[in-house]
Amino acid sequence: MAYLTTAPRGTKDILPAETPKWQHLESTLLSTARRYGFREIRIPTFEHTELFDRSVGDTTDVVQKEMYTFTDKGDRSVTLRPEGTAGIARAALEHGLLGDALPLKVSYDITCFRYEKPGSGRFREFHQFGVELYGSTAPAADSEILALAYDCLATLGLGSVVLEINSLGCKECRKAYVKALLEYFGQYRDRLCATCLERLDKNPLRVLDCKSPEDKKIAAGAPSILDYLCDDCNAHFQEVKARLDAAGIPYLVEPTIVRGLDYYTRTVFELVHTAPTGERVVCGGGGRYGDLIQELGGPPTEGIGFAMGLERLLSTMIAEGCAFPEEPGCDLCLVSMGQAAGVRAFQLADQLRRQGVHAQCDLMGRSVKAQMKYANKISAKYVIVLGDDELAKEEAQLKPMQGGDPVPVALTAEAIARVLA
Ligand code: HAM
Repeated sequence: MAYLTTAPRGTKDILPAETPKWQHLESTLLSTARRYGFREIRIPTFEHTELFDRSVGDTTDVVQKEMYTFTDKGDRSVTLRPEGTAGIARAALEHGLLGDALPLKVSYDITCFRYEKPGSGRFREFHQFGVELYGSTAPAADSEILALAYDCLATLGLGSVVLEINSLGCKECRKAYVKALLEYFGQYRDRLCATCLERLDKNPLRVLDCKSPEDKKIAAGAPSILDYLCDDCNAHFQEVKARLDAAGIPYLVEPTIVRGLDYYTRTVFELVHTAPTGERVVCGGGGRYGDLIQELGGPPTEGIGFAMGLERLLSTMIAEGCAFPEEPGCDLCLVSMGQAAGVRAFQLADQLRRQGVHAQCDLMGRSVKAQMKYANKISAKYVIVLGDDELAKEEAQLKPMQGGDPVPVALTAEAIARVLA
């Protein structure tokens, strides 16, 4: 029976008392991105499984352990999206968006699904806000994406979240780096976890991202990618930083960032909040992906973007005491006594709502006392009590619930709305 009244593990209901905070968060992020020219795109919740294997990478935790993959009734393997970048790249290719004006800039606000161990900011269904920019190889694009991430955090009041950046170089500098990593991790073959031993052969960079504590310790002493960047990648990274410096955007260079997905080249970054307990909360991450579009069969087009985890952003905002706008409450409760007054209250409420007033009337057949109690409970600003007398006089008293003198009003929506305004 518990299955009927308990949500699946790792999922979460967002109740009416919480939705105003979510709406504030989502509208702030979407409108901030809009100021940089990003327009919202909406994509399907599930895609062909091959799309994620090919783009996210088949040696990543996401693909190896965390995807919700199933065979549908048509015998096709489909997967609930674990992230947005792959689906958006697919949509951009499918609809020829990369043939229009470049750079193409899109934003998204989506649910994602990962079969992870739930706990401390990890869910199996979670929300991401993100942006993707296609068509520019210039460091200016990286800097703009980072500036936007910083702007989003600042606009939400999250000054304490730090922008940590790194460069993963290109295919060429990666070769020398992978060689160095193999030499380094080779010394620890007897201590690495089984998955990492496999990764060492297929994709040694992934070992740097292993969550096992023992492997993390070993990875801490690994060579830094920044020492292996080729001249072009190094110049690119310097220019990204120079632009951030010019704009006064604070950041920290963190050479251990490799990200958990395979498609990244050159700039990568994470948005990190450190809780008073010392726990690091990664509120978002992103970077440049040079080859993804080509991997999917498209023209040589680079992309860059980021995604923020909305559950993590919201809990950080609450922990940091960030301000949220107040939810507009009920302006007026029309309390009625008897059938005729009930009908009139219904009619007035209807007319008032059309004029933008949040009005409510009795739907429960309650006594006047119980209706007043309800008005109090929902924090209505005003009440009007309607009975036979008020209907006969075509006038009633508008009573402020927070105290103060009642005001006489004619029983028309216009007159009531005028006093409420
Ligand atoms: P990601 O780092 O895998 O990147 O996810 C982005 C953010 O989503 C994380 O920093 C975290 O805040 C949130 N997140 C991830 N997994 C969970 C989870 N299980 N529960 C709650 N929140 C979670 C990407 O997804 C890339 N697509 C970002 C990107 C866009 N790169 C380029 N463009």
